[in-house]
Amino acid sequence: MHFFNNNADAQQNRVVINADQELSEISKHIYGQFAEHLGRGIYGGIWVGEDSDIPNTEGYRNDVLQALRDLEVPNVRWPGGCFADEYHWKDGIGPADERPVRINTHWGMVEEDNSFGTHEFLRLMELIDAEPVIAMNVGSGTPREMARWLEYLNYDGESTLANMRRENGRDEPWGVKYIGVGNESWGCGGNMTVEFYADLYRQYATFTKEFSGHELFRVASGRYDTEYDWTEHMMQEAGDMMEGVSLHYYVIPTADWDAKGPSIDFDEDLYFAGIQRSLLMDEYVQGHSNRMDKFDPEKNVAMVVDEWGIWTDPYPGTNPGFLEQQNSLRDALIASITLDILNKHSDRVRMANIAQMINVLQAMILTDGDKMVKTPTYHVFDLYRIHHDTQLLHTHMMEINEYSYEDESIPVLSMTPSKNSDGQIGITITNKSPNTPQSVEIEIRGQQIGNLSEGRILAAEHFADINTFEDPDRLTIEEFTNYSLNGNTITLELPPMSVAALRVE
Ligand code: AHR
Repeated sequence: MHFFNNNADAQQNRVVINADQELSEISKHIYGQFAEHLGRGIYGGIWVGEDSDIPNTEGYRNDVLQALRDLEVPNVRWPGGCFADEYHWKDGIGPADERPVRINTHWGMVEEDNSFGTHEFLRLMELIDAEPVIAMNVGSGTPREMARWLEYLNYDGESTLANMRRENGRDEPWGVKYIGVGNESWGCGGNMTVEFYADLYRQYATFTKEFSGHELFRVASGRYDTEYDWTEHMMQEAGDMMEGVSLHYYVIPTADWDAKGPSIDFDEDLYFAGIQRSLLMDEYVQGHSNRMDKFDPEKNVAMVVDEWGIWTDPYPGTNPGFLEQQNSLRDALIASITLDILNKHSDRVRMANIAQMINVLQAMILTDGDKMVKTPTYHVFDLYRIHHDTQLLHTHMMEINEYSYEDESIPVLSMTPSKNSDGQIGITITNKSPNTPQSVEIEIRGQQIGNLSEGRILAAEHFADINTFEDPDRLTIEEFTNYSLNGNTITLELPPMSVAALRVE
């Protein structure tokens, strides 16, 4: 499928990138994933067990392993989410057939046999070369339980717990660095007031020791949307004992949690609303960051946006407790726009996790038995690999058109310009308009450019287009050649509803 014809009706836009003005590092950890014990996020999605008929390596399905490796996933947050505050790590170690069966009370009241536990998660991280981010239990746990889990994970001496780890098959400590101290402690993580949680945070954090020199990065539970007071209180009372504080934001197309809107067959109302609501991330990140600045103007404490994405009604016919939804081109553009916002705030945002990696909410990958499909959002994360561990460049959006729908308008373009350590410039750019192609003139100042060595694009005929098991490559990345280079100015012709990535040398 091709959508890339020159179009005389294209609207004109003009951008200047100052390649000699580096603003902040775009950490690859902004491109993190989230895998919760929720529905088919783990079981069936990645973990099928060694005896499964589905081709697997040590119990992890091969197709999903390969897709995650190709995406260069930098980190994965686990085991929740709400599940984290009812998870007791000792349930998930030792011989699998001796592990207790619990009830996953948050997500569908299903039985959790604990066959996927600490060792299985950390082995997965090795197999896909990603950093683990472990959200630890505060809501129904104890400081001692958290401290002992850390010792089990990271101590290299001869303690009883370190030796238990060895008996369970792991000699060397894993050196887990990133931990969450509770999740949504204002809600499913314990329904706490911020005053209570701040005290509890300090108590728990006191016992998070750096065993055998393994440095920790502790993320306190933050809140969501415009709940700025929570963040301010946490910074004031516990900012000296954390390395990061979280922020969650979900795009609900209808803005109604009881009827969020479908993930398939929606109209332009819900396309526009979803795209428009994704822009709110900018306001929220800025608002929380401003409060953090009061106590931390140097920005030593990171903002960790460890849950974000679009949340729709469950896909028809699925268990509502499993949060399964389809993933359309609209959702891919919500991802590209959100990633641009997080990149823009990379002086403060140093880690983020889209919710969630497989089969849950805005997933990268959907599975059904032995079938697997990559979603349009997967392809956005693929395009945005160009920004991993690069420097954000200063940009002027000089003349930008608007996408207007009914009586509302939003800027039609979203973009990130970055520079890697070889001096190559990476540009990702999204055209939000479902109707109008955009011609974009990009002038690069401060660095002589020679050629465009890479051009890739994701586009579709309709914003509700999806990939299915029957038609898995309906939306996929194609080569993008619809540009011209004149000195230091690139002119792109972007089709409607598209996201492109360019590498400039
Ligand atoms: O991602 C689904 C759920 O959303 C998480 O478990 C929880 O933290 C949030 O409310």
